[in-house]
Amino acid sequence: MTPIWRVDVITTFPESFAGFLEVSLLGKARAAGTIDVRVHNLRDWAEPPHRITDDYAYGGGPGMVLKAEPIVAAVEDLRGPDAWVGLLTPQGRPLRQTVVAELAARPHLILICGRYEGVDERVRTLVVDEEISVGDYVLSGGEVAAMVVIDAAARLVPGVVGDADSLVGESHAGERLSHPQFTRPDEFRGLRVPAVLLSGHHARVEQWRRAQALHRTQRRRPDLLDRRAPSDEERQLMQEFPPSDA
Ligand code: ADE
Repeated sequence: MTPIWRVDVITTFPESFAGFLEVSLLGKARAAGTIDVRVHNLRDWAEPPHRITDDYAYGGGPGMVLKAEPIVAAVEDLRGPDAWVGLLTPQGRPLRQTVVAELAARPHLILICGRYEGVDERVRTLVVDEEISVGDYVLSGGEVAAMVVIDAAARLVPGVVGDADSLVGESHAGERLSHPQFTRPDEFRGLRVPAVLLSGHHARVEQWRRAQALHRTQRRRPDLLDRRAPSDEERQLMQEFPPSDA
């Protein structure tokens, strides 16, 4: 099977990806050949014999800066006609589910993990298509951020999640959070599962879930409803089914 989604990661800490790539959904999708994720050591493109990947910042200051030459050489080696090159940095475009979907639709991503105090600015100028941030906080490097991008996007690659319907109502699909979930037993420490979920009435269950998802979104993330206002039908559902956890 030819993989429909390829990712090349460029990092100074390739070992941090080991367990992550092997288990669960990603491990299975890689084994099945649906996706192809490869992790490369930046040192392989650094000048022998010392293979140094970082250096002091011009102008002074604490910390080291990742050098441009090895990164640009790595990208030029790995890049094909369809490649999109992303740099993980806290200065990037904030990652949201819509951005994740864009990245999942690209056939080939090259992800550069930033480190230390930064990356030589000429990397951005010469080879980076877009910078991505996974949130307004600073990680010690781009590795965990690259894993976030890979994990979130791989799930949207056709064939990776067995039942594609399960992606439809999940949080952040269509600017809504997900509804509450319950499993057995139907009563636990005096807390009962909402009766509608035990009714076997599929259409009502669906309506109840949509209403709860909307109530939860309104309470926790009203900014999502600002992005896409509830439709008339959604407003009606919210009235018919009050919040279950009010
Ligand atoms: N590297 C360090 N912090 C980061 C962040 N928030 N997002 C992406 N890459 C990063």
